[in-house]
Amino acid sequence: MDRGFVQFRMIFLTFSIALLCMATACEKSHEVRGSVVPSGISKNEESKGDKVPHKKKIKIGFSMDTLEEERWLKDRDLFKEAVENLGAEVEILAANGDDALQISQAETLISQGVDLLVVVPHNAEATAAIVNKAHLAGIKVISYDRLVKNADIDLYISFDNEKVGELQAEAITSLVPKGKYVYIGGAITDNNAILLKKGVFNVLQPYIDRGDITVVYDQWTQDWLPANAFTNMQAALKANKNQIDAVIAANDATAGAVIKALKAQGLDGKIPVAGQDAELAAAQRIVEGTQTMTVYKPIKVLADAAAKIAVKMAKGEEVPAGKRVNNGKIEVPSVLLMPTAVNQSNMDETIIRDGFHSREDVYRNVGK
Ligand code: BGC
Repeated sequence: MDRGFVQFRMIFLTFSIALLCMATACEKSHEVRGSVVPSGISKNEESKGDKVPHKKKIKIGFSMDTLEEERWLKDRDLFKEAVENLGAEVEILAANGDDALQISQAETLISQGVDLLVVVPHNAEATAAIVNKAHLAGIKVISYDRLVKNADIDLYISFDNEKVGELQAEAITSLVPKGKYVYIGGAITDNNAILLKKGVFNVLQPYIDRGDITVVYDQWTQDWLPANAFTNMQAALKANKNQIDAVIAANDATAGAVIKALKAQGLDGKIPVAGQDAELAAAQRIVEGTQTMTVYKPIKVLADAAAKIAVKMAKGEEVPAGKRVNNGKIEVPSVLLMPTAVNQSNMDETIIRDGFHSREDVYRNVGK
């Protein structure tokens, strides 16, 4: 055979093999756990699925509702620190209450090729779209603090929110076993707000049934905004000619608004008020005497546990979750942490002992 023909056949063969390899690789890159990924979210998918190559640095996406409250800044910082301490990295985006933005930010994280997504939903129902999109790209999703409803969420980690409501109502009923109550709820779009209210009414109901307690005003607070809680509390005072004996507010930010409305009527410090979150302003109001109690949820415990679970799951490792919580679609494997009631008498051995706030900050205005 002539030399020119042999060379030509060699080049042709090499070219054909290269083409075949490219075609196979291309096809493979669209397969994630047997499902087909639509084009546009196919980047990096080979690193997803049940086994992530361990040499690669794990990247977690953290999609947050808001950073406009003290607690979420703590969540952001502590979660980042915990993930980094585990040798992984985290990309954080916050949507500040905008559902469409939260979904598009999550899409950005998915297309950036995160190995796992952690979501704090603004809207429990709307964020189901995020879970579906992540799963199409082979990315598992953890619901952080708030439950995503009606989606195949992989794990839910939070505090026991029903218990938070029970602790609030137990504290207030022990001070005011009879009288007119106001309930200032959270955002109806947040599953936690529903659980908190359930907990409060678990405790109040027997008092209501006996006729000892009447709930004279009961409203949700749109988007958890203190301005909305303030308007609601003003309405409650007006409708009852200031004849109110106790207030339970779904968190410290709304409790602050309640106390502002009470103050405008010269009633601050005279009517018991409950909140939750152990925000610094609330801890100060407690030692000053205008807020009765708060519920302390050590964010570090939540952030550390969530980070550990997220990194393990991203590596495809098994994560034991003792509980199951129904989210309208499935029984979600869940981890629920315990909250603690805090008032003037145990401020030092809870919030301050843990370094959640410094003693100096808490007692700044009362000097102690
Ligand atoms: C959280 C609270 C928080 C509230 C408003 C709830 O889902 O559990 O800690 O105060 O959202 O952001």
